[in-house]
Amino acid sequence: MKSGIAKRLLWSWRPESQREANDAIVKNMLLHWFPSTVTKRSLSFSYSFWLGTISAVLFVILSITGLILMFHYTPSMERAYPSMKDIDFATSYGWFLRGVHRVAAQLMVVSVFLHMMRVFYTGAYKKSPGKMGNRPRNWVVGIILLLLTLALSYTGYLLPMDQLAYWAMIIGANVAASVPFVGEHIKLALIGGTIIDQNALLRFYVLHCALLPIFMLVLMAYHMWRIRKDGGLACMDQVSLQHGMTDAVPASTKTYSLLGITSGIDIKVQAPSQMEEEDRILSSPNLVRRLWLVSLGTMAITILLAIYIQFPLEAPADPTMAPNPAKAPWYFLWLQELIADTTFTLAGMTVNGAFLGGIVIPSILLVWLVAVPYLDRTSAANCGIWFPRERLKQNIVFTVVILVIVALICVGAFCRGPSWVFYWPWEQWPELPVNF
Ligand code: HEM
Repeated sequence: MKSGIAKRLLWSWRPESQREANDAIVKNMLLHWFPSTVTKRSLSFSYSFWLGTISAVLFVILSITGLILMFHYTPSMERAYPSMKDIDFATSYGWFLRGVHRVAAQLMVVSVFLHMMRVFYTGAYKKSPGKMGNRPRNWVVGIILLLLTLALSYTGYLLPMDQLAYWAMIIGANVAASVPFVGEHIKLALIGGTIIDQNALLRFYVLHCALLPIFMLVLMAYHMWRIRKDGGLACMDQVSLQHGMTDAVPASTKTYSLLGITSGIDIKVQAPSQMEEEDRILSSPNLVRRLWLVSLGTMAITILLAIYIQFPLEAPADPTMAPNPAKAPWYFLWLQELIADTTFTLAGMTVNGAFLGGIVIPSILLVWLVAVPYLDRTSAANCGIWFPRERLKQNIVFTVVILVIVALICVGAFCRGPSWVFYWPWEQWPELPVNF
């Protein structure tokens, strides 16, 4: 009996019949998130690498550790830095909590980015061969989630108010100010004044601890819900195609016309009963157990990394002494490098790199990313397959963009010395006079 209760708490018992599986989904709030059965292919590790799930788990870890850190952190110019020091050295397990939060933040940037790459390479942003669902919309939602992940990481980076934080804020504010005509207004809205002080810190604190996470949570819920609305993961389309399934328009009955009021009158269903039995397995225990495994694995890796990697604070923020070089967080180094590379003088005219490299080029990249599902005219029958031949051109362009970004990050991280001068990693930087 006891073990039966434990199994039910872990939602991994094996229902006796399809009927019992359906009942469990209807009766249990957490199981309600899942369909009663899933295709074997969508559970395969080598299709999704579970990167979306890993990103969601990291978000949960960040929310829990962040909430506890909020009890100890004070968002004031005088107290921010000392309260971080207290967390590191005076609070019980404070160093560990901060370490887990920091590691999870970095891992989340990586996992969300890798998830986007996997979705691209499997063409999972394409509409199903039938008319059902709208995967392109979920791709766009994903792009917003990626931007939110970066914004959350950046706003958090600023809170310790050490030298790194202060000068990263200055770089961000200057890039915002470089937008023609409205730049100064954007900067004012971002930092709440003309200099980095209490207003700026409070803005970043509220953004980091409330606005951005709430927005992220709502959008993540929508993202997951859309996966169900889109007929499951894109690899399921292949199963449908194998069985020659097409969308079926249900008979117009009273019930369907009622549904029609809520979601338009063009109702189409892909009845799972049409799918061959052997392709489908019960969500509980199959999906639920894998979810537990991925969640526990993600937690274990985050905790191990947090124990072994140190995140020492820099010196307290000092507006009179800029570190040289002042580097942005690694995931923004490609932008900093682009800004440096696009700042040059031509025929006596100086090109503003902050605007060209910091705003124009990333905006073009963003618009292209958003438009990807609408520009890609290859057959939807390739949706949910890794590197199909027909999408070779798209995959090459995407890979080149990724490689350029990675190369720029590496140059920024390892080859830039004082005054952003290029040095090979093995070259010695020159001695600089103090206060240079
Ligand atoms: C906080 C960030 C994100 C979270 C938590 C998240 C979560 C998920 C989850 C759990 C899945 C199911 C499959 C899997 O585990 O891989 C998924 C699928 C999907 N995600 Fe995300 N995602 C995020 C960001 C993104 C981004 C950046 C994109 C693309 C720009 C994206 C586009 C998609 C699409 C199109 C699918 C359906 C894939 C398919 O049908 O194979 N997501 N997401």
